[in-house]
Amino acid sequence: MKTNMWIVDNSENNVNSYPQLEEAASLLKKGEVVAFPTETVYGLGADATNDKAVKKIFEAKGRPSDNPLIVHIGNANQLDGLVKEVPLKAKKLIEAYWPGPLTLILKSKTGVSQGVTAGLSTVGVRMPSHPVALALLQKVNLPIAAPSANLSGRPSPTTAQHVYEDLQGRIAGIVDGGQTGVGLESTVLDCTCEPPLILRPGGVTKRQLEEVIGKVEVDQALLKEEEKPKSPGMKYTHYAPNAPLFIVSGTREFMRETIMKAQEDGKRVGVLSTEENHSFYPGDKVIVCGHREDQASIAASLYDSLRAFNQEDLDIIYSESFEREGLGEAIMNRLVKAAGHKIISEE
Ligand code: TXA
Ligand code: MG
Repeated sequence: MKTNMWIVDNSENNVNSYPQLEEAASLLKKGEVVAFPTETVYGLGADATNDKAVKKIFEAKGRPSDNPLIVHIGNANQLDGLVKEVPLKAKKLIEAYWPGPLTLILKSKTGVSQGVTAGLSTVGVRMPSHPVALALLQKVNLPIAAPSANLSGRPSPTTAQHVYEDLQGRIAGIVDGGQTGVGLESTVLDCTCEPPLILRPGGVTKRQLEEVIGKVEVDQALLKEEEKPKSPGMKYTHYAPNAPLFIVSGTREFMRETIMKAQEDGKRVGVLSTEENHSFYPGDKVIVCGHREDQASIAASLYDSLRAFNQEDLDIIYSESFEREGLGEAIMNRLVKAAGHKIISEE
């Protein structure tokens, strides 16, 4: 299959027109699969009301079919066609954070494609804030199911180039809107229970949710390896680079020693470092991922950094560790998954 590329200059500010999107929109309407930028990561979209189209997403990604998809809407009215009810707390969150990086799990209406819900009685819905995503969704005027546009198991794509690397020849097209903003996937919040439960930490933090609706809980399985997560997608291996990745928790002196020991054993060592510390580490390949004092900058480049290690021939990768505070919750959630829970602690 030929994969079309449409380049959309984000800075154009003609949000409502974007004539480059006509072809992408018409392919989506015809039941084809098209990747597009959102403010979190690139999504792989298909008409959520068309079973055959939804099936193509799973085929292109190699995604297990028991993992449900998030439905993206460009207009809040579309929610009525998808869900049975919108509880008051969900209404407040929609008011506060849509469009934006927040997915709400709500009771689904019968008729929502089984491929989308993976047979669950709930559906995840979000309205992205990226101007290109919104313009495309509004042009198509259908709910669009979209997981992250990577091959299953790989880091989510934050550039059109990442999507191309993974899915070229497997999908009808890619809308290139440049690098995404947040860089990590949306927060997934289950609103069918009380208090609402965070199934996946993301761009909207626990504190931001609690400011609007009061107490929110976090799925305990996110913190412990052995518990079964409530969100089907959270149980799969994710984001892992080719060489084994370890998170190093401790001082930068300890990190330096850990790197040097591996090198003495003849290993080629990759290092994921923040800007502040990189010159301190003697790694064979040191990749700089944001500033320690600016969590948003770490989130924005994390997946690109993890992908970049695969360009190198490495035996082992060590990553700095981060505070699980604010956006740090989502950063550490993804990093721990990428490392398969392998953590080396100084104490
Ligand atoms: O930021 C994002 O959310 C990106 C962009 C493209 O919007 N999308 C994304 O989709 O990350 P995906 O499929 O890679 O991750 C969806 C997550 C999975 O962990 C899935 O198990 C969970 O949401 N999920 C979806 N529907 C669910 C449901 N009804 N109940 C529980 N978890 C659900
Ligand atoms: Mg994903």
